[in-house]
Amino acid sequence: MSGDGGGSVESVLREARKFDPPKAADVGATAWHIDSMEQYRALHERSINDPEGFYGEVARELTWFRPWEKVVEFDAPDAKWFVGGKTNLCYNCVDRHVEADHGNDVALVWEGEPIQPNGRPEVRTLTYRELLREVCKFANVLDKLGIRKGDVVTIYMGMVPELAIACLACARIGAVHSVIFGGFSSQAIADRVADAKSKVIVTCDGAWRRGKVVPLKENVDAAVNELRGTGGAGAGSMLRDGVVETVVYFKRTMNQIVWHADRDYSWRDLMVMADKWRPCEEMDSEDPAFILYTSGSTGKPKGIVHTVGGYMVHTYLTSKYVFNLMPDLSQPVRTAPAPNGQMYWCTADVGWITGHSYILYGIMSNRVPTLMFEGAPNFPAEDRFWDIVERHKVTQFYTAPTAIRAFMKWGDEHPKKHDLTSLQVLGTVGEPINPEAWMWYREHIGRGGCPIVDTWWQTETGGHMLTPLPGVTPTKPGSCCLPFFGVDAAICDETGKDIPQGGGLLAVRKPWPSMLRGVYGDRQRFIDTYWSKFDVDGALAQEGGISPYYFAGDSAHLDEDGYFWILGRVDDVINVSGHRLGTAEVESALVSHEAVVEAAVVGMPHEIKGTGIAAFCTLEPRRAPKDADGAAKLKDALRAHVADQIGAIAKPDSIRFTDALPKTRSGKIMRRLLRSIAAGQTHAGQDTSTLEDFSVLARLQESSEG
Ligand code: PRX
Repeated sequence: MSGDGGGSVESVLREARKFDPPKAADVGATAWHIDSMEQYRALHERSINDPEGFYGEVARELTWFRPWEKVVEFDAPDAKWFVGGKTNLCYNCVDRHVEADHGNDVALVWEGEPIQPNGRPEVRTLTYRELLREVCKFANVLDKLGIRKGDVVTIYMGMVPELAIACLACARIGAVHSVIFGGFSSQAIADRVADAKSKVIVTCDGAWRRGKVVPLKENVDAAVNELRGTGGAGAGSMLRDGVVETVVYFKRTMNQIVWHADRDYSWRDLMVMADKWRPCEEMDSEDPAFILYTSGSTGKPKGIVHTVGGYMVHTYLTSKYVFNLMPDLSQPVRTAPAPNGQMYWCTADVGWITGHSYILYGIMSNRVPTLMFEGAPNFPAEDRFWDIVERHKVTQFYTAPTAIRAFMKWGDEHPKKHDLTSLQVLGTVGEPINPEAWMWYREHIGRGGCPIVDTWWQTETGGHMLTPLPGVTPTKPGSCCLPFFGVDAAICDETGKDIPQGGGLLAVRKPWPSMLRGVYGDRQRFIDTYWSKFDVDGALAQEGGISPYYFAGDSAHLDEDGYFWILGRVDDVINVSGHRLGTAEVESALVSHEAVVEAAVVGMPHEIKGTGIAAFCTLEPRRAPKDADGAAKLKDALRAHVADQIGAIAKPDSIRFTDALPKTRSGKIMRRLLRSIAAGQTHAGQDTSTLEDFSVLARLQESSEG
């Protein structure tokens, strides 16, 4: 239901099943942090009514170099949390544990994708002490390269421990990291680097993906050439000239790379010479921590800005309660994961917010080992994930609905081959989960008993917002249940009027610690996108008016128990395999191809991805294909072109050529109609009274897709 533009709100199918939370012992957990709805309700109420008291206590579980003067200040859209407090994210994720005598505890377990000649994958384990040393060294490397507090460092790497080390090193010295997912193209890198004015890119020679090498360094080189005006089309823009001064590459796959004497440095060469100690920078709670680019309904991706203190506290708190993280205190010194200890695994890539918050910061600040897997779920076979769960005795497993649907398709026999009894809590994130996938997850991975936490949140929210708690919340398949502590979520109409039961727009009415602080370099876009929807008490009536409520861009349904059911986006954003894409981005990639005159992109139902991409293109007449063969070739070329412009995730699943797009008399593309055509429905029941040319519609429905 993603991409349901036009503000229409549908209701979800009635789902009557409800599952009570298990007892901790039933899933092999030592205990639940909280285990009753009364406790949850009391804590939630306190977090909303007394944020000073509630968050004061939570934040004091972490280390601050100087205490805050005030917990929160909010003047919409600007929030400040832990005002005046000084701290450091890296300190709280690494140093704090070493200083508390946990230096030999396992911080990070990494498993590579390739199976080695000995029949096993490569596994690396880093203790907090080892991690601290590596992070200090890389912090000194960055310093030598001229990076200072506040500078933006771009990170475009595969899933290797060095990616975590690079992020933590930035946090240590107060540099702002901008991690770009390794699946994005060189054009996408260039756009982000230029927007952030980043002088350094940290990358790898390549990344392993399904047995093949993704040439990361080559993509970076192409991006730098483009930025320096020595690349292909569009090169030479003076704005972009000379932004990148340095590229650091970590050799992982040993593929051939081109070395540029003026800018390239090998990670290992720099690290050998680096000092092993570097103190943490004292960061103001409101200093920026990182930028992460995400798609919106218009224009290029926007850089979402998060700050240090609030982000740290919220990711720490959500990780602790939503995943029930409990570092094992009974074995203070160990060099391997404790036999009864927890092993947390999130299958996301660090290039997404899920990886930032719930592979790195939230998990490491809780001192539970975090597992990082380099590769694909079906390499070398479809049971790879379950093999990992069994071998590493994973206790918390966090993945996306799209992955679960793929597991279902691959067959029950794959998880059956493995002992999954270590699992205590299962999580999902990124898109609505269909009840059928939820039930499969529970039965086949959670042995019919593990609680499932369906967590709703966004790049912008920094951490979980709506979610069950594992020992507490009775769960319903497909519902992300209830607000987390500190989250005042509601379903509203456009005037901000509360809809206590039924469908509407999802709003957050109070600030929360890890909320975005802005869109990098674009204050107006920040206001327009998130703070201009709810006209509460006429707030938007005057020029420059600001909504006091945060607008998430999603619609949702509230049931009779106060449970939230996410329906999907209400803007022109689609959610493909749990990854956000702006339809406008894909359209502009398509029209940048010489054969395409106009393009409209909408979401369509897709068995595995949840939402697939359907593109409708009108063609330059001289380039229009003459026959079916030519059409197939052009479609392939367009898919490749989109992958080149954005990345493979943006490739349309279906492309249709048409001699016109359905438009209103005022020239607006009728996306609703296109959506129903893409979904294979007829347009019966749709309002077509404003359609300019009815024959367009008839021809579109006749046109073949593929
Ligand atoms: O539409 C919602 C969907 O993903 C969007 C946020 O995407 P992104 O910023 O890329 O972050 C994804 C990882 C946090 C939301 O606006 N979404 C995310 N989680 C859920 C979800 N939809 C339904 N249920 C969820 N649990």
